[in-house]
Amino acid sequence: MPGTNSCRCRFVVLVSGRGSNMRAIVQTLRERELPAEVCAVVSSSPRAAALGWAREQGIATEVLPHQDYASRELFDAALAQAIEAYRPDYVLLAGFMRVLTTGFVERFNGRLVNIHPSLLPSFPGLHTHQQALAMGVQWHGCTVHFVTPVLDHGPIIAQGVVPVLAGDTPADLADRLLQVEHRVYGEVVGWLARGQVTLDAMQRVQVRGVANRSFILPSDGGY
Ligand code: GRF
Repeated sequence: MPGTNSCRCRFVVLVSGRGSNMRAIVQTLRERELPAEVCAVVSSSPRAAALGWAREQGIATEVLPHQDYASRELFDAALAQAIEAYRPDYVLLAGFMRVLTTGFVERFNGRLVNIHPSLLPSFPGLHTHQQALAMGVQWHGCTVHFVTPVLDHGPIIAQGVVPVLAGDTPADLADRLLQVEHRVYGEVVGWLARGQVTLDAMQRVQVRGVANRSFILPSDGGY
């Protein structure tokens, strides 16, 4: 069990682009001196800005350009092999823009975690901020969840919310939400690192010692 005794919990983070959630994860682990480390950052794109930052931090990086593979299955097989070389306890999706095959998801069952920029089960898929504005919701948010073969689905570990304000554009909403994404993913990796997260018989998440898994920013008001 990760996070017990002197074990260090090992994370591999999958990215495709900017990597701000990946940075938040690495920084949270370091600042809180958690018993955990990001062993590798794996990108589906050689152009991902995330890679440069990870290398500067001395974190191993791997690049698997998805277009180099003839099928989703071949890409996922290579991806799984690259990940397993680092023997992770958990694989964290942080802006990884590839849909994973059922075989891949099942291989990492219970160890594969994603952040999605909506309050699931609302607004799965892409363009979540546009979807939220089009529906006129007054609260938007993000969800950190275990990954199942159904896209943007799976047991919810934590959620964060932000208000939708008059005149918001999708970009405004995305920027506001990103702050809470970093907070929520940071908290979740802390729980994972300490071995606090389990699934009950109903496939619902339990986090030992944590009563509140909802976040709102800024916590001091100000909207
Ligand atoms: C985030 O909004 C995340 O929720 C979504 O993709 C975006 C990635 O941003 N899955 P970043 O690469 O972490 O900055």
